[in-house]
Amino acid sequence: MDITMVGTGYLGATHAACMAELGHRVIGIDTDATKVEALNSGRSPFYEPGLDELLAKHTTTGRLRFTTDPAAASAARLHFLGVGTPQHPGSDEADLSALHAAVASLVPHLEGEHTLVGKSTVPVGTARALAATLPPTITLLWNPEFLREGHAVADTLRPDRIVIGGDGDILDELYAPLGRPIIHTDWETAELVKGAANALLATKVSFINGVATMCDAVGANITELSRALGLDHRIGPHFLAAGLGYGGGCLPKDTRSFRHQAASLGAESTAHLLQAVDAINTERRTRVIDQIRALQPQRVAILGAAFKPGSDDVRDSPGLAIAAALDCDVAVADPLAPGYLDVDCALDGADVVVLATAWPDYVNLDPEWAKKKVRSPRIIDGRYALDATAWRQAGWIVM
Ligand SMILES: NC(=O)c1ccc[n+]([C@@H]2O[C@H](COP(=O)([O-])OP(=O)(O)OC[C@H]3O[C@@H](n4cnc5c(N)ncnc54)[C@H](O)[C@@H]3O)[C@@H](O)[C@H]2O)c1
Repeated sequence: MDITMVGTGYLGATHAACMAELGHRVIGIDTDATKVEALNSGRSPFYEPGLDELLAKHTTTGRLRFTTDPAAASAARLHFLGVGTPQHPGSDEADLSALHAAVASLVPHLEGEHTLVGKSTVPVGTARALAATLPPTITLLWNPEFLREGHAVADTLRPDRIVIGGDGDILDELYAPLGRPIIHTDWETAELVKGAANALLATKVSFINGVATMCDAVGANITELSRALGLDHRIGPHFLAAGLGYGGGCLPKDTRSFRHQAASLGAESTAHLLQAVDAINTERRTRVIDQIRALQPQRVAILGAAFKPGSDDVRDSPGLAIAAALDCDVAVADPLAPGYLDVDCALDGADVVVLATAWPDYVNLDPEWAKKKVRSPRIIDGRYALDATAWRQAGWIVM
């Protein structure tokens, strides 16, 4: 099949490469010429395990190419939309301007029967409103994406489930080789299931973080509590790691957008619940900022700029949010995100160290070695991930 993928960021570049791996001819279209150039040379502009290999393989076979020219879409009948839908500045709503611009740039090149497939995360009602603007020869489906950064290739080729909203069966043929459960539904359900999934994950994280605050107040152990909760098969162990909360390009903005949708659809209590989820997430960052300020440091080392280990994505990063709120000298380290220090330089002369991302490199640091680098051996374990006993034995104050 000939396919275009409009928007080739974390979602789109991965989807394009995986569709080429399934044997299709794919053209990725993006407005960012630098990204297009990197992708055409077989390199991912961001870190994603396995993606470089697929890009190199299929840009060489010719099954995959990238362009900034939307006219290239005329060669295909199936077009995926994976542009960004960030939070609108100054509100909790999603900004759909990139989606509308992408569709407007594509439609003039689509003569005859075509299918547009939305993969971006959008508020409920978006597909229906968009369909009303399309010519009758264009079918619109909504096929939300659930991939996790750091596992994006594996998640695309072996998703837990595939959700398809709208009338049309072209995707059944496309996804049949994956052999995964397909749920056919309407546009609204497809849009809501994605928002609900992210809001539920965020709720789990904030719930355990709220309990962590209670544990801290009485000296109880949140790590042991989380383990005990997670072994309950009705609850499960995922998204129960207490710490600095969630970040990244999806959970924060999707939870806020879902809260806004809940409020406007009459689910007031759900909106309040999600407001609290967001507030707890912010409080976790504020709590560490207050802890640092109380120590009156001259130099702080933040270990971790990526919002989670295994990714170089620094969008809405807890570590960077803390760094930005401090008015002392701050050194930020990250093993993967470009432009940050290595841990050796970051620790050098620090009065306070913050473990902001549970990178194994940082969790497994030798506390004796680290103590020789810093000016004051004080560490805030923002992820409840350190072996506090070993760090204390090495002379550190662990907070
Ligand atoms: N990143 C994830 O883990 C993930 C997972 C599931 C769903 N999503 C959703 O997928 C969507 C994309 O997210 P992302 O993380 O890939 O974002 P991204 O910012 O990495 O990529 C978006 C891409 O769209 C391009 N773009 C913007 N306007 C365009 C236009 N008019 N025409 C063509 N290209 C255009 C940008 O240049 C960019 O390369 C969002 O709705 C997001 O919520 C993301």
